[in-house]
Amino acid sequence: MTQPIRRIALSTGGGDAPGLNAVIRAATMAAINRGWEVIGIRDGFNGLLHPEQYPNGGLLRLDRESVRGIVHTGGTILGTTNRGSPIAYPVEQPDGSWVEVDRSLELIELFDANGIDALITIGGDGSLAIANHLHQAGLRVVGVPKTIDNDLERTASTFGFDTAVGFASECIDRLFSTATSHGRVIVVEVMGRYAGWIALHAGLSAGAHAILIPEIPYSIEAVADVVRRRDERGARFSIVVVAEGAVPADGDVSVIGKSVGQAERLGGVGAKVTAELEALTGKESRLVVLGHLLRGGSPSAFDRILGQRFGAAAVRALDEGENGIMIALNEPSMDYVPLREIAKRQRHVPLNCDTILTAREIGVSFGDPVA
Ligand code: F6P
Repeated sequence: MTQPIRRIALSTGGGDAPGLNAVIRAATMAAINRGWEVIGIRDGFNGLLHPEQYPNGGLLRLDRESVRGIVHTGGTILGTTNRGSPIAYPVEQPDGSWVEVDRSLELIELFDANGIDALITIGGDGSLAIANHLHQAGLRVVGVPKTIDNDLERTASTFGFDTAVGFASECIDRLFSTATSHGRVIVVEVMGRYAGWIALHAGLSAGAHAILIPEIPYSIEAVADVVRRRDERGARFSIVVVAEGAVPADGDVSVIGKSVGQAERLGGVGAKVTAELEALTGKESRLVVLGHLLRGGSPSAFDRILGQRFGAAAVRALDEGENGIMIALNEPSMDYVPLREIAKRQRHVPLNCDTILTAREIGVSFGDPVA
């Protein structure tokens, strides 16, 4: 028999995404309306593990006032972090080296000591893997899928993706006029980690001529051919959208670096593609890296609605006695998917999906090596 809930905690982990505050507000309101108390944990789990770092404490009481007017705002009022995972916490050794330590049991005791009956954790694959680990160790947990990358399994979409695609698309629109005026190649690098969802959707939406995604290793010669053929037809300019995780057919993913307790940082492929296209085609080429701009700003209407639906569904799931699950969009409803089926998995763009077929049929190149 599940214990009744009196107090829940909310935590946001990993990179921020537009729509986080919409989830926080909806979960808070749905919980308060059930007579539950709601506590926000600052910066992932840092507020619980290291309250001394916060002048006003690491926990924030969430009530009507604290979540008023935040649905349309970007970022997260709780703060977030993609360092210091409680299951692989970086600890410096006397010799200066670092090891990753599992602090999950300590964390679960802290939930207990603070009278918290259940956790709603809002995050991407890393945060949901942590959620699964905490659940296995005995914590009552429900996860909410967040990421601009849209790379989570079993949910039709994550919140943040629509806003990121909308903004990237608007930026590419603006690059068309300057690329046309100068007769240049403009390469636009977008985030997305090891999946090409943002590049594919933003590129197709804005009418890019080539889109390079991790799922289709590219040949730079094939992309240069696109530029040359456009020149022959008198178009003079080309727009190439590159996902940060795009991989040359004869090379590796471009990695900026990796610190202890953190995921690999990707980036640099846009610069490589730009330099190679200039060398191969002789055309002036420029690079625009959209980077963290895609994570900022006000969420789109779609993400505000999806975020609120996820937040309310997470509270509903706890109220129904669910545990160890992630809320997943499956219109017209929400599914409850076991966290163990999500943890450490990534959803890639299927090569035969309709969006890719459409792009190919209208002449967009994915830089496939010429046979
Ligand atoms: O997962 C979201 C994301 O924005 C990725 O697209 C990107 O690779 C990564 O986070 C960047 O993270 P950071 O905040 O460490 O720069």
